[in-house]
Amino acid sequence: MTPEEPHDGMRVVGAGPRQPADRALRPTRFDEFIGQERNLPNLRIFIQAARAREEALDHVLLHGPPGLGKTTLAHIVAQELDTRILATSGPALARPGDLAAILTGLDARDVLFVDEIHRLPVTVEETLYPALEDFRLDIVIGRGPSARTMRIELPPFTLVGATTRAGRLSNPMRERFGILFQVEFYSPEELQRIVSRGAALLDLELAAAAAAEIARRARGTPRVATRLLRRVRDFATVRGVNAVRKRDAVSALERLHIDADGLDAMDHRYLGCLVRNYNGGPVGIDTLAAALSEEADTLQDVVEPFLLQTGFLQRTAAGRVATALAWERLGIEPPIAGGALPGLFAADDVPEAGPADDE
Ligand SMILES: Nc1ncnc2c1ncn2[C@@H]1O[C@H](COP(=O)(O)OP(=O)(O)OP(=O)(O)O)[C@@H](O)[C@H]1O
Ligand SMILES: [Mg+2]
Repeated sequence: MTPEEPHDGMRVVGAGPRQPADRALRPTRFDEFIGQERNLPNLRIFIQAARAREEALDHVLLHGPPGLGKTTLAHIVAQELDTRILATSGPALARPGDLAAILTGLDARDVLFVDEIHRLPVTVEETLYPALEDFRLDIVIGRGPSARTMRIELPPFTLVGATTRAGRLSNPMRERFGILFQVEFYSPEELQRIVSRGAALLDLELAAAAAAEIARRARGTPRVATRLLRRVRDFATVRGVNAVRKRDAVSALERLHIDADGLDAMDHRYLGCLVRNYNGGPVGIDTLAAALSEEADTLQDVVEPFLLQTGFLQRTAAGRVATALAWERLGIEPPIAGGALPGLFAADDVPEAGPADDE
């Protein structure tokens, strides 16, 4: 694949909107949930404690890149609390009245899940504060001199907020969450377990080495892993392969233009643009977004986290910078050390290229 290969808009590894079919593979209890071992044990304790005291769980903020399990966890929290969950999203709550309608319909200890909570309008956010802190709603009725405030008492409930952008939340909003849960990228071993579990649920015979191959290319993201699994299964179906071996998985993944590090056409476009058009940076995100005809938000939410995590990209005060690893990946000689960012191209900074384990 060449980095200039046109982007067809069908990003198989993009953590885009969920497909309904994802539901079959979505864990519904903690026992089925794999990974997040840094934060999950504590969350389980807090839930257990809330249950023991018959109280509402403190408000929970789940934050981190797309496709890592925030929505899944929100539903598991309600399931484990043995309560109802009402799901909505920041942009869906346009006016304070929309929020009031939902809050007044809650029962004690219910979970209110607000996805994309960083996109709540300010007026709605301000209505939410007293609801979170004191379980009351202050609604302004009428306007001008005749306006008055009506107070409504609410049952104690748990807000579970999810966001890909914790930095966009206002401070008062963030401070009202008693439990902050940062979802993290998954290790290849965790993803392999997720892929194998998914294969079993899909009734697909998948060799461990094939699962490992899918996991390695899944950008640390379960949503990507399960999506790749489905595509590998499609190739197997059409080719009449009953038991998927490593080489079947590899050939399918190559047909999907996903390289050995899990980088896809969009990643190559991004890095290619940064390196070729801007000599590796530093360059501002808006400039890059314009050059790529993509939304800056999409680049920041979907493309960059993985490139940053895998060491292809650095974010500096001056802008985005391609690392030596990125130049190497594109097969271009990096500029002499001591260029725009001294130290970036030092030899010991260069991580190993993708593992060379072929058949
Ligand atoms: N720990 C896990 N084990 C198994 N599958 C998982 C796990 N976490 C997520 N998944 C799978 O990945 C898919 C995406 O997860 P989810 O929708 O919860 O991500 P998200 O963080 O809410 O993403 P977004 O930010 O785009 O809303 C789920 O449908 C589920 O099948
Ligand atoms: Mg979600």
